[in-house]
Amino acid sequence: MPDVRQRVMLAPYTTLKVGGPAEYFAIAKSEEEMAALAGFARERGLEFTVIGGGSNILVSDDGIQGLVVKNEIKGVSSEVDGERVFLKAGSGEIWDDVVAHSVEAGWWGLENLSAIPGTVGATPVQNVGAYGIEVGEVIASVRVLDITTGEISEIPATDCRFGYRDSVFKNEAGRDLIILSVTYVLSRMPAPRLHYRDLEARFAEHGPVQVSVSKVRAVVMDIRSGKFPDWKNIGTAGSFFKNPIVSVSDHERLVDIYPGLPAYTDGEGRMKLSLGWILDHVCALRGYREGNVGLYERQALVLVNRGGATASEIKNFSKKIREKVFEKTDIEIEMEVRMLGFDESNSKK
Ligand code: EPU
Repeated sequence: MPDVRQRVMLAPYTTLKVGGPAEYFAIAKSEEEMAALAGFARERGLEFTVIGGGSNILVSDDGIQGLVVKNEIKGVSSEVDGERVFLKAGSGEIWDDVVAHSVEAGWWGLENLSAIPGTVGATPVQNVGAYGIEVGEVIASVRVLDITTGEISEIPATDCRFGYRDSVFKNEAGRDLIILSVTYVLSRMPAPRLHYRDLEARFAEHGPVQVSVSKVRAVVMDIRSGKFPDWKNIGTAGSFFKNPIVSVSDHERLVDIYPGLPAYTDGEGRMKLSLGWILDHVCALRGYREGNVGLYERQALVLVNRGGATASEIKNFSKKIREKVFEKTDIEIEMEVRMLGFDESNSKK
């Protein structure tokens, strides 16, 4: 059973560098330790919250009640099956290390998701996506611990209900499930996915080139470094809001007023709008700053802590941004970042 400490400040465990103390805090380095800690919380009736790389959370200034566990469950293994490879990674593995490993092996599937901060366990929860792929497309199954019963089971991808930055693990049905490992299904045969506009443009610049998996990773890393702040130096949680999904008629109404608005079809009768573009070209908020909080100069969807911001400052700032977007577009936007320790947030019971 790992050490359980009291009143541990959480700010250093988040990439936004914000947040008060955990009432209780521990680190789980194995499935057994995670299960033991879940038992500790269950016996004492404590809320149970698991964090990974802390790169997609906003922790309240009052901190989080109950037990907060930092997931450091490691281990990577692979199994080849003809042209396919099943790559299994512990949920506490650093995501980009796993991507780098698969790219070095010459396996296709994760390369578009290069250089995303965070851990493996967050990928199915958020259905992490970038440059034309969502991780749910390459997940075979997810191994989980039910904290109410202590039971471990394997959930096939088809039962994970992957949606845009959404999955069963974010909803009521998955509330009690802690992710222990994820198995990805990759391809040993070339399977480049270059249809995302930025990527397509970069490959077109050089004419027809031999596309290798490492080349795709290098290009994605290069595009990202131009748009996203380096989270090792600047407090950020990547995209702070989701791109809004709206009806075709809302999309038409907005395109009439703002003809350049980028949008993508998102299933029957729904359109996904580029909020970064709206914040930038409609609301003129790119680089906008109030006190210690701002929207990044090179990508308006990214909120940055300019140093010393508090969680309530960030929350109020984001509320203002939501109101400004609503004023101009009549569209309600949602946060992409998970809020912890606020009244409305949902840690695991
Ligand atoms: N744009 C602007 N100004 C801005 C930002 C964007 O004009 O300040 C325009 C871009 O030129 C482009 C469009 O808006 O035409 C979309 O921008 P981009 O391709 O950079 O992607 P995004 O929609 O802003 C999404 C994801 C990112 C992911 C990128 C790349 C969400 C909420 N965000 O951003 O994911 O890396 O696509 O695929 O879906 C994350 O979830 O934390 C995240 C970083």
